[in-house]
Amino acid sequence: MAAIRAAQLGAKTAVVEMDEIGGTCVLRGCIPSKALLRGAELVEIARHAKDYGVNVGEISVDYDKMSKRKDIAVKTLSAGARSLLKSNGIDIIQGKGKFLSTHEIEVTEKAGTRTTVSAEKIVIATGSVPSSIPVPGIDSEGVINSDGAFELKELPQSVIIIGGGYIGVEWATIFGKLGSKVTVIEMLPQIIPTEDEEIAMGLQKIIQKDGIEVHTSAQVKEIGNGAAGHKIVTVLTKDGEKKFSAQIVLVAVGRRPLSEDLGLEKIGVALDRGAVIINDRMETNVPGIYAIGDVTRKIMLAHAASHQGIAAVENALGEGGHMNYNTVPRCIYTIPEVASVGLTEKQAREKVGEIRVGKFPFAANSKATILGEREGFIKIITDAKYGEILGVHMLGPHVTDMIAEPVLAMNLEATAEDIAHSIHAHPTLTEAMGEAALDVLGKVIHMPPKKHR
Ligand code: NAI
Repeated sequence: MAAIRAAQLGAKTAVVEMDEIGGTCVLRGCIPSKALLRGAELVEIARHAKDYGVNVGEISVDYDKMSKRKDIAVKTLSAGARSLLKSNGIDIIQGKGKFLSTHEIEVTEKAGTRTTVSAEKIVIATGSVPSSIPVPGIDSEGVINSDGAFELKELPQSVIIIGGGYIGVEWATIFGKLGSKVTVIEMLPQIIPTEDEEIAMGLQKIIQKDGIEVHTSAQVKEIGNGAAGHKIVTVLTKDGEKKFSAQIVLVAVGRRPLSEDLGLEKIGVALDRGAVIINDRMETNVPGIYAIGDVTRKIMLAHAASHQGIAAVENALGEGGHMNYNTVPRCIYTIPEVASVGLTEKQAREKVGEIRVGKFPFAANSKATILGEREGFIKIITDAKYGEILGVHMLGPHVTDMIAEPVLAMNLEATAEDIAHSIHAHPTLTEAMGEAALDVLGKVIHMPPKKHR
């Protein structure tokens, strides 16, 4: 996206890439995981079809086929991105790039041939790689990270997932819905720890009801081998030391910026624990060199990176780009989904003091009832004085598509009243947003008065 914006602004642009085009998002992240989650969702729908009067035969999962379909989605989108670059007149230079000077990049092709490209302005967008943890057995066979998870040819019968963050809960959903026995081990007191506590608890309850075992405040001590090729994970839990056994162990404990071996030290680009330090213009301490995305460790989400990319090139080419980190939406594609923007309730109380909270359950929304997906709720947090929206948190059906409204509202510094006054079509899930806003104002319609609840 940065390259395309640069080309639009008339710059002669080249992308240096050592892999296929698309980065982690297209090749090993958002796209393949959501393609598999689509399979999980279809299994879920088929399993409940009879509740809707639709009788389907026995449901079975052909994981190999599901995985191949995911590969097709990846190839299609990677090829699409490549052709979009080409149609914008952008050169794709295939190979591994390394700074020779502040204006020169040496590119080493797979065969070892080296060429040098030079540019007035350079954007570092090298992303991140999965992190690991220093426990015995972490590098043994049967222990994989998210990259390895995409390579699985068969559905494992049982999986232990270390880390209950974004990757942890999404893979728990994929494996769990497709029929694996899943155990999630999370070090902190709540899963998806960056999200609102109530949302995280809500999701935990739903996935536990679905048969996924979740252990929070749990510390992994060691990974060993058991019978029949199973892995044994020793964990210090709230109830003492426990041993869990599964066919594979998936480590999902975060990602770290990929900043090594780029020649950054040589040209003096400053790093903070491996992350490239940038200012509000996305520029590093070296004039003319910018950095965006996971390598900056600001917000490790694809859409945050693309926005940073556009802002970086606009600044580099004299347009004045801007990035608002406070209104970056966060979406988790579990079943049901999680979507949020802004401060959690705890953060808002700490930062602002007096706040108002409005809530509305999907169980009271007509469209959710029609869909038969009534779990979850919407929560809107505003400041008490002006009613400005500080955060919106959702757990429920299609909430990842609904987060756009509060993002726009927050970008416009809108209030709960503004949302309540915006007419939400009936019957839609978005009506729950209008009702949550009304609840902030003490005027919720489709709920009994508070004293009767
Ligand atoms: P994460 O930061 O979301 O979660 C890592 C989890 O592992 C945290 O809950 C952390 O407390 C836990 N953890 C750390 N050390 C542990 C240990 N020793 N034992 C047990 N738990 C431990 O990182 P994750 O899930 O690996 O994802 C990597 C990146 O990819 C994140 O930045 C995430 O935002 C992004 N991502 C985004 C998705 C989306 O937008 N839907 C989906 C998947 C990943």
